[in-house]
Amino acid sequence: MIIADQGNVYALDNRCPHMGFPLQRGTIRDGILTCHWHHAKFDLGSGCMFDPFADDVPSFYVEIRGGEVWLDPNPIEEPPREHWLAKLDDGLEQNIPLVLAKSVIGLEGLGATKEILKRASHFGLHNRAAGWSTGLSILTAMANVLPYLSEEDRPLALYNALCMWRDRQRGSRLISI
Ligand code: FES
Repeated sequence: MIIADQGNVYALDNRCPHMGFPLQRGTIRDGILTCHWHHAKFDLGSGCMFDPFADDVPSFYVEIRGGEVWLDPNPIEEPPREHWLAKLDDGLEQNIPLVLAKSVIGLEGLGATKEILKRASHFGLHNRAAGWSTGLSILTAMANVLPYLSEEDRPLALYNALCMWRDRQRGSRLISI
């Protein structure tokens, strides 16, 4: 969608990255677009989200030439692997199941299963209060089981392991070391 606001023109994907509500039905104030379903907020210029439960909205290069709006149809985006790894870190740090699920699906699709396990283990080992947690045991067991699961089952199994692991981590006192 093309948006004109306070003399500037912006182009953003119309689908809210949280759950798909049409962003054209949102409202804009002070350069911030608010989705009206769950009230996630996005920067108009970059599409970056202010609420970690959502994701960034894909944005596009757009400019005015001789009174016409010109748009590059290719979204401005970081490489998918880096994007989903950053989201995985957000999901782990802030314990947001939807973000964890999306990042697992995204990374699994890129064949980065080992990277998921590595990040989660690393996070667990650096944020523990009392030694090896049951959550880390769950994660280790899942790492051994994953190669025997079908491709369709792997993302869900991995997601469930991450959620159980994250709940266990939350159950013990988290500290940074
Ligand atoms: S669908 Fe937009 S905030 Fe949830």
